[in-house]
Parts: sequence; C-alpha cells; structure tokens
Amino acid sequence: MPIRVSLVQLGKGAVGSALVDQVAARRAALRDRLGVDLVYAGIAGRKTATFSPSGLDLARWRVALGDGAGMDGRLLFKEAARALRGPSILVDATAEEDMTSLYCEAIEAGFHVVSCNKKPLSGPLRDYQQVKETCRRQRRFWLYEVTVGAGLPVIGTLRDLVDSGDRVEAIEGCFSGTLNFLCASLDRGDRFSETVARARDLGYTEPDPREDLSGTDVARKTLILAREAGHSIEPGEVEVSPFWRVDLAGEPAGFVTAAAAHDGEIAGRWREAEARGLRWRYVARVNGGCQAALREVPADGPFGRLVGPENIFTFRTARYDSHPLTVSGPGAGPAVTAAGVFADILRVGRAIGRTS
Ligand SMILES: NC(=O)c1ccc[n+]([C@@H]2O[C@H](COP(=O)([O-])OP(=O)(O)OC[C@H]3O[C@@H](n4cnc5c(N)ncnc54)[C@H](OP(=O)(O)O)[C@@H]3O)[C@@H](O)[C@H]2O)c1
Repeated sequence: MPIRVSLVQLGKGAVGSALVDQVAARRAALRDRLGVDLVYAGIAGRKTATFSPSGLDLARWRVALGDGAGMDGRLLFKEAARALRGPSILVDATAEEDMTSLYCEAIEAGFHVVSCNKKPLSGPLRDYQQVKETCRRQRRFWLYEVTVGAGLPVIGTLRDLVDSGDRVEAIEGCFSGTLNFLCASLDRGDRFSETVARARDLGYTEPDPREDLSGTDVARKTLILAREAGHSIEPGEVEVSPFWRVDLAGEPAGFVTAAAAHDGEIAGRWREAEARGLRWRYVARVNGGCQAALREVPADGPFGRLVGPENIFTFRTARYDSHPLTVSGPGAGPAVTAAGVFADILRVGRAIGRTS
C-alpha cells in the first residue's frame, strides 16, 4: 500500500496552479515509483478555498475553487489541521507577509512546510530562527529551494557545502530572473516599459513587480543565502541599490504604465555601456554581508553573457578556491519554479516513505 501524504496549498497563482497540474500528471507514477500517494486535500486563494480530507478531484480543481468556500489560506489550514491525520505538507505558494506564526502552528500540528515565499525566510532573524527551532524540536522539514534561483539547485548546493565542512568565502552572481530578463532585453534594444509588462505576463515577476525593480526581491535572496551559510543578518543590514527607482505608492498596474516615462533614459544608459564593451547586470554578493546593485560587467564575461531569465551563482569556498563552483540556468518562470517545489515535496515524501 502506498503511504498517503496530504498536501494543503496556499496560493493558486502562476506557480501554485502549475504545481497542482504537475502533481496531478505524476501522481499515479509516483505511487508505483516511490510508494507515496500525494493527495491534495486543500487549495486556497485569497478569498476562496476548496477542501476535502479524502482528496480533491484534480481534474476539476479550478471549478471546485470557483465554487469554493469563502476562506483564505489561513482558515483553510485551520480546517485541515483539525481534519487531517497522517503525514501532511503545507505548501506556501503565496507572497504573503507574516507567515512565520502560521508555519510554527503547522509544524507543531505535525505538518512539514514547503515554501516558495521568500518573506518568512527574510524577515526578522528571530522569526526565522523560531521556525527553524520548531522544526528541529518537532523533527519536521522546512524546505524552500525555489526561494533562490527558482528550480535551480542553489540552496541544496550551499547546504551541502556547509554541512560537509567547506568554508564559504563569497557567493556572487545575478540572482533575479526578472532583472536579468530586463537587462538582456535592453541589450537587444527593447523598450524598458514593454519588457517589464512582458516579464509580468510571462510569470517571471513578483506579484508586485516593484519588488523586483526596487531590488527588494534580490535583497531577500541574499539574506536567505547568508543565513543558510550561517550568518546572523537582519534585513536592515543588506546594502541594496534599486535596479531603477520606483514609486511604491499606488497599485502595481499603474507603475507598469508609468514605466514608459523612463524608456529613453534607460536606453541611453544601455547604449553608453555597449559602446565601451560593457553590459549592465544586477549583481549580488554575499560575503558575510549582503550587497546588491546594478553594475557594468564585461559583455563577454559569465554575467554579461546571461540571456533571458537566466541566473548565475558562483560559490567561492575553501575547496572551490581558484575555480568557483557555479550554478546557472533559468531562474524564474512558473513551470521551473513549480518543478522545484515539486522536488521539495518529493524530498519530504521519500523521507516519509523510508521511515514508515
Ligand atoms: N514566478 C516565479 O518565477 C517565482 C520564482 C521563485 C519563487 N516565486 C515565489 O512564488 C510565490 C508565488 O508566485 P506567483 O508568481 O505564483 O504569484 P501569483 O501568481 O501572484 O500568486 C500568488 C497567489 O497567492 C494567493 N494568496 C495571497 N494571499 C493568500 C492567502 N492569504 N491565502 C491563500 N492564498 C493567498 C493569491 O490568491 P488569489 O489567486 O486569490 O489572488 C495567488 O493565487 C511568490 O512568493 C514568489 O516570490 C515565484
């Protein structure tokens, strides 16, 4: 008999929807391959949720959500915690603030947690440490590979380096698929405002694209990596310069329209760099502290050659000294991100399968 693992998912946007469809397509095969049956018990958006302790019919989950009860993810979780028995995973595919108390509640109730959401990992250190400590005490997983580099194996690589006793001197690279997509599109002469809209339509941006443009999203990633490497850093200590100045007042949609006012100025900066054999890239560095800023880099170097939503992470360590360990590839997009979340769910599933 396969072991049942219940999934309760908050968020049904670009990543959340792709994940449900990927799990639906693989569920039967995974029952045979891993002996684990991934059963969606609940899915919630901001205002609607669908819940069935015996398992949702994934062929019609969108319809069920449309007809669903008027509750958000937090209420769905409370219902699930009351009704579910056996191994369960809370999947956070939102970009909500203040999730750490919900995570702790879930872990205390016996859930494992898989996050796409960077905010619970990059808020006050005390909150982050509280979730980690609750996991240790309850012997539960909190996995969040996609919070840095989407589907790329960045956090797992860093964790293996640290756990195996390597000393991480510096991590440097381009950590934002959205910002790299903008930089590479501007290299080709595309308009800034149109490119921001395209990045949003392709599902690369944060739910609010100003979080990308302000550098806030990359700042969160640097903090996640720094903490994973063992540094106790607070959000206020990250030195971040915006990709471009953004007005945080008003709705995100208004910002995308207003971006056209900057098209000429940005195109001029890009042309000027190109004339000197350089390209603009949004470069981040973690080396005890955290920094992120738009920098000129050689056009034919590893950062300048990145195209589309590609990321690059170079790890310079005691062992990887003269030649850094490099992880590179697409660092944004619903399909690759959902696949990364799926991989975290499978890590939990395999561990449950081994111990049951
Ligand atoms: N897109 C990428 O390439 C990528 C890569 C790595 C990580 N991520 C992370 O993945 C997360 C989701 O990104 P996305 O692109 O899928 O964003 P999205 O399309 O805007 O989806 C966000 C979802 O969160 C839901 N939500 C908000 N508050 C909620 C609540 N209280 N309870 C339940 N659901 C709630 C929204 O519900 P409604 O549908 O009702 O509005 C929406 O379905 C973000 O944290 C993002 O940083 C994304």
